[in-house]
Amino acid sequence: MKIAIASDHGGFELKEHLIKFLETEGIEVNDLGTYSDESVDYPVFGSSCALKVAQGKADRGIVICGTGIGISIAANKVKGIRCALCTSPEMAELTRKHNDANMLALGGRITDTETAIQITKAWLETEFEGGRHQRRVDMLNEM
Ligand code: RB5
Repeated sequence: MKIAIASDHGGFELKEHLIKFLETEGIEVNDLGTYSDESVDYPVFGSSCALKVAQGKADRGIVICGTGIGISIAANKVKGIRCALCTSPEMAELTRKHNDANMLALGGRITDTETAIQITKAWLETEFEGGRHQRRVDMLNEM
C-alpha cells in the first residue's frame, strides 16, 4: 500500500512520528510536506494530498493540521475523496466500515502520538463493509 501524507505546521510533528510508524510497518510513504514548523496554509497541503489519492497516485491519504478540521475540509473539496477526521480508533474503524474513508485527518494539537498511531492502525486494518453502506457511499461519490 502507498500512502500520501501531508500536514501544515500544526500537524508537522505528528506527521513525522506517523511517517516513522508507517515505514516500520513496511508501508510506502509519499511525504508531501510541510517540512518544518514554519507557518503555512493548510488548504494547499490538504488539496495536494487529496489530489494524489483522487488521481490514483496513492492508495490512501493522511492529512494533519492543528485540529484536523481545516485540512479535512480542504481534502473533501476534491471529487472522490472521503476524508474522515478521527479522534479515536473506534471512529477510524467505523469510518472504514461505513464510509469507506480513503483519507484520514488528524489534529496535531488534539491527538497525542500514541492515540494517533492506534487510530491509523484501525483505519488501515479495517475493511469497508459494503452492503447497505454502498449506496450511500455511491451518493457521496456523485456529489
Ligand atoms: C493553524 O494555526 C491552524 O489554524 C490549523 O492548523 C488548523 O487547526 C485549521 O483547521
